[in-house]
Amino acid sequence: MQVDRTIGFIGAGNMAEALLRGVFAAGVLRPAQCTVTNKNNDERLARLARAWAVRTTRDKALLMAESEVVILAVKPHDMPAVLSEIAPYTTARHLIVSVAAGVPCEAIEGCLGAAPVVRAMPNTSTAVRASATAIASGRLAGPDHLAIVRTLFEAVGWVGVVPESMLDVVTAVSGSGPAYIYVLAEALVDSGEQAGLPRDLARALVAQTILGAGKMLTETGEAPERLRERVTSPGGTTMAGLEALEQGGLRAAVRAAVTRAARRARELRSAPARTPAS
Ligand SMILES: NC(=O)c1ccc[n+]([C@@H]2O[C@H](COP(=O)([O-])OP(=O)(O)OC[C@H]3O[C@@H](n4cnc5c(N)ncnc54)[C@H](OP(=O)(O)O)[C@@H]3O)[C@@H](O)[C@H]2O)c1
Repeated sequence: MQVDRTIGFIGAGNMAEALLRGVFAAGVLRPAQCTVTNKNNDERLARLARAWAVRTTRDKALLMAESEVVILAVKPHDMPAVLSEIAPYTTARHLIVSVAAGVPCEAIEGCLGAAPVVRAMPNTSTAVRASATAIASGRLAGPDHLAIVRTLFEAVGWVGVVPESMLDVVTAVSGSGPAYIYVLAEALVDSGEQAGLPRDLARALVAQTILGAGKMLTETGEAPERLRERVTSPGGTTMAGLEALEQGGLRAAVRAAVTRAARRARELRSAPARTPAS
């Protein structure tokens, strides 16, 4: 599906470029629809203009005038400055999309007035168009706004719609989730090497195993417990390994990781949410 709107990107970093790559590859947008700005990195803007044929500018008034959808792809601590810079040019016809973790829609609406706001929580797999992204609408955003944001983020992976109150837990599960999987990958590679495999071979085996397990989950639609049961024969090797994981407290550790990461998301939310209007 194509998005028939002009899009302004405020922030030209990893997330903005991953989105550009995804939306062009998926044919959701054309370069002529996109204007990009950042804070002061001229070289980066010039590179994006060359690589993606997008318009770039340092003039936020111009970007806001040219864009119907404005994607705020800046770090949470830069949000207060960005919101005060664009507030004079924001109108009810804009759709504001924020990917900044922990900055509530209410805080953005408090600065930008009548513009509808949607928050998106993607993860780093956006870079390979395999993100798990949750989107949540603010007070003024309706189904049409959510549909636009869904289409944009579906170009870089899977998208689910959630109430904003769930975003802290989403952050703890799928936002931080890739890092949990990387720790598991690290431990498997180290263990394989210690048990006699060459490190390169262990890495290749582990990467493909994680990719394959992810594909089994997404393509079969089966619950993880069903897939686990199916590969676990009584008295077999997998069962022996799983018993060691259970004895080592894997489930309790994962539960603690999610609880702590969600708590940290709540703590961070109360810090950067101090926007100019709040
Ligand atoms: N990368 C990911 O995979 C990922 C995943 C989930 C969520 N996110 C979220 O996405 C957001 C962006 O992350 P990122 O990784 O893309 O960060 P990044 O690579 O550090 O890029 C941040 C961008 O914001 C720009 N910026 C800062 N202040 C600005 C201002 N006042 N006006 C205009 N531009 C401004 C920076 O410009 P200069 O370079 O000129 O300073 C830079 O282009 C963050 O909130 C992050 O939490 C990212």
